[in-house]
Amino acid sequence: MIPQLFFQISLFWRESYSCYLDLIQVRSTQTDFKSVRFLLILLFLRCTVSCYSEMEKSLTSRKWGTIKPADIKTLRTERHWLENVLPTVKPNASKTPLTLTIGNPVIYSAFEPENTALEILSDSIGEATGYTSPGGDIECRKYLAQAYSTETWKLTEDDIFLGAGCNGVLNQIHHVLADPGDTVLLPKVLFPLMKAISINREVNVDEYEFLPEKNWEVNLKDLEERLAKKPKFVYFLNPSNPLGSVWSADHVSEILSLANKYKVPVVTDEIYEGLIFSNSSFNSFGKLSKGQPVFVCSGYSKMGLAPGWRLGWAVCYGKPEIIAPIKKALAKTSLYSLKCNSAVQVELPKLVEASFSYIKAKSVEAEKRAKVFEEALEGCPGISVFKPSGTMFAIIRIRYDEFVDIKSSRDFAIKLLEEENINILPGHLFGDDDFIRVVILDDEEVLREFGTRTREFVMRHIVRGEQKNEAK
Ligand SMILES: Cc1ncc(COP(=O)(O)O)c(C=O)c1O
Repeated sequence: MIPQLFFQISLFWRESYSCYLDLIQVRSTQTDFKSVRFLLILLFLRCTVSCYSEMEKSLTSRKWGTIKPADIKTLRTERHWLENVLPTVKPNASKTPLTLTIGNPVIYSAFEPENTALEILSDSIGEATGYTSPGGDIECRKYLAQAYSTETWKLTEDDIFLGAGCNGVLNQIHHVLADPGDTVLLPKVLFPLMKAISINREVNVDEYEFLPEKNWEVNLKDLEERLAKKPKFVYFLNPSNPLGSVWSADHVSEILSLANKYKVPVVTDEIYEGLIFSNSSFNSFGKLSKGQPVFVCSGYSKMGLAPGWRLGWAVCYGKPEIIAPIKKALAKTSLYSLKCNSAVQVELPKLVEASFSYIKAKSVEAEKRAKVFEEALEGCPGISVFKPSGTMFAIIRIRYDEFVDIKSSRDFAIKLLEEENINILPGHLFGDDDFIRVVILDDEEVLREFGTRTREFVMRHIVRGEQKNEAK
């Protein structure tokens, strides 16, 4: 564009100079300042016009390249695996695929949403088409406040915030409790969402340890050392995805008193609160709080078996004078955070009420499957199943020293797919390379088939007696 402009200017000078000479000849032989000024104005106008038309030409002739995205620092590890790693693996197409990766209950025939829930929702279509209040529909929040109240905690609608799934409220709470550069304390083994949010927001992550031999309770000594460093909040998953563990009231209370000692707010993800097996009982952190701040995040996704309806909620426990600023901040962020649509919100009381009537039976079904799963792998060398107390997952521990050529959970997952066409998630995606995670909601024959094929797979890779002796 610049050479073009010079060319235009020189052209213009040549034209105007000859014009100027003509003028002088006609008017007088002396230099005429008015003519010079006239010329300069002409020059300026000509330059402006040509400059503008050049700019326009260059803009309209510019080609689309790819658009540079903002700096997205993270992807949820399990999504990265499903979207980027798995497509590079060639499964054994001679065997029927078994896919036990995603915690989406509706894809398993026994865990589809109940007709009652579908009827409730279809009745509401057309009934609630306007906006709700920014924190979510008031009647729905009143209902939840009552459902989550206890003798100690008399909650009101102001203690409840709705979000687009449990994901939505976890995100909102994260924004309200931590700034970029702060540190938050997360479990070493976890559903990757909170870690992904933290990394993306440039919030530092410290991690507390578990005691796998004590049913995956928190290592309290380790937790205390980390709480003493005063993170902005500490996050717990109870019941746990991926571990399937459910903690006793005593253990939850021990954790709460440590967090209280160091004055660290507690955020809990209790989305699996409805899927509890007969060997355990669910104890909410919120209900056991004695006054310290606890923000319970939960939702309808797993208790109603309809994650696509995106009904999530946060419940705020704690002495009003301590949590008032956080509730105010949540109210502010509610003005731009997403919720599920009004039709689903206003039916929440009926939907949740109905879910109480069937989720117990669904938990029994899930527990039955967990048992089938355990039996299918009983006595298998090299691996052992951790018995879940709730949720829809079981983890299989891998003893690498018993394998010839499997050195990581990634190895295990890729080889299992290549050889047996079985799809599971490796533990490293959740922060622990010593296990794989399996969704146990599929039909019992599928779980038995999983056991048979996995056993054959293990036998092909295990160190045999004579190899063991040689190694000695
Ligand atoms: C532990 C945990 N928290 C949160 C979520 C997200 O829940 P929602 O679908 O309600 O956003 C999931 C979904 O699988 C989960 O497993």
